[in-house]
Amino acid sequence: MSIAIPAEDPRHVPNRAVIDPAAITHNTRALRGLLGEQTALMAVVKADAYGHGMLTAARAALEGGATWLGVAHPASALALVRAGLDVPIFTWLYEPATAAEVLPKVIEAGIDVSVGSERMLRLVAEASHAADRRARVHIKIDTGMGRNGVLPEAMTSFAEALGAEDRVRTIGAWTHLSAADDPADPETDRQIDVFDTACAMLSEEIGPIALQHVANTAATISRPDLHRDLVRPGIGLYGYAPLPMPEGTRLRPALSLTSRLALVKDVQVGQRVGYGHTFVTDRPTRLGLVPIGYADGLHRAASGEVDVVVRTRTGDQLAAQVGRISMDQIVLDLGPDSRAQAGDAVILIGDPGAAVLDDGDVPSAEDWARAAGTIPYEVLTSVSARVPREVREVKA
Ligand SMILES: Cc1ncc(COP(=O)(O)O)c(C=O)c1O
Repeated sequence: MSIAIPAEDPRHVPNRAVIDPAAITHNTRALRGLLGEQTALMAVVKADAYGHGMLTAARAALEGGATWLGVAHPASALALVRAGLDVPIFTWLYEPATAAEVLPKVIEAGIDVSVGSERMLRLVAEASHAADRRARVHIKIDTGMGRNGVLPEAMTSFAEALGAEDRVRTIGAWTHLSAADDPADPETDRQIDVFDTACAMLSEEIGPIALQHVANTAATISRPDLHRDLVRPGIGLYGYAPLPMPEGTRLRPALSLTSRLALVKDVQVGQRVGYGHTFVTDRPTRLGLVPIGYADGLHRAASGEVDVVVRTRTGDQLAAQVGRISMDQIVLDLGPDSRAQAGDAVILIGDPGAAVLDDGDVPSAEDWARAAGTIPYEVLTSVSARVPREVREVKA
């Protein structure tokens, strides 16, 4: 009798994204600690919580003091409700076809939706009609991102349309900052001026706006004056601070990426490694093959730039990733004296256990981002669906 082995079975793949919910709880608490009593925290758990798993992250953030959840996609918002997460939920990104399909369900479920144009207002009003429930909306103001949102020059006409629409109840007004991670950039203050003027125009038409929110993680850390009623941190929840945290507070990365050595072999001087033979050994050494590649989320642009940790039987060692990153594999230069063996754990991001190396040596999503010319957000969200997530607490 033969037993079928499914194409995607985590038991046959050594790669793991280890997610530590306690770190998300800790980070939420740390960010919450920066807020005054009047300000609530919306945990941004879009994009499957930046790759960490939406429900895991949402529950962990609620435990850390978040009282709102925010997601880009309406279907994600519905999934949060269906999982029984009974807190206010906000969703902001949809277009006519998905709106017709999903917004009535979203409104029926009592989820708050963003409205950033007269067209979106009509879509939400229609959905509200279909749901037979008044929609709770937050008005998005385009203060300089040029994405969703009512432009200042369109505000008078929009406010009139909103005032005339009895299918929606305005809960709040919001915007998104384009440069809060650079405190020296005057754009943040300019955006806030635009926001405040637009809110004043809205209020004239529809009365006071109860809830205002503008701050992402960077503004949560650096601009207490912009906390308003609600902050919307994302990346900080997952342990990466775009700006230094105040003295005595520290965020903990919540995702580690691990694999195992598939093969260790001794090579001579002149051994070429990988596509384009961009790396050639200049001494006899040991190479280690790791069955993880860009299809798992490693950025090919970071080829040859990041040192990773190999957890050998006699201790942790750092090893340079050499040659081009392939779709499914990478090669490490373990060095001629390495004690590493096939089967040893390899840590590509973070530290899922008690490392003997210093914190600074353990590769982080920031190291990969720097090497690939991108941001930790992209490194985290790139960890692909074929990498099984393992949820477990990691010792701090
Ligand atoms: C609308 C909105 N609010 C908040 C956030 C969270 O931003 P950050 O991850 O920088 O804290 C995002 C993420 O880009 C977003 O799109």
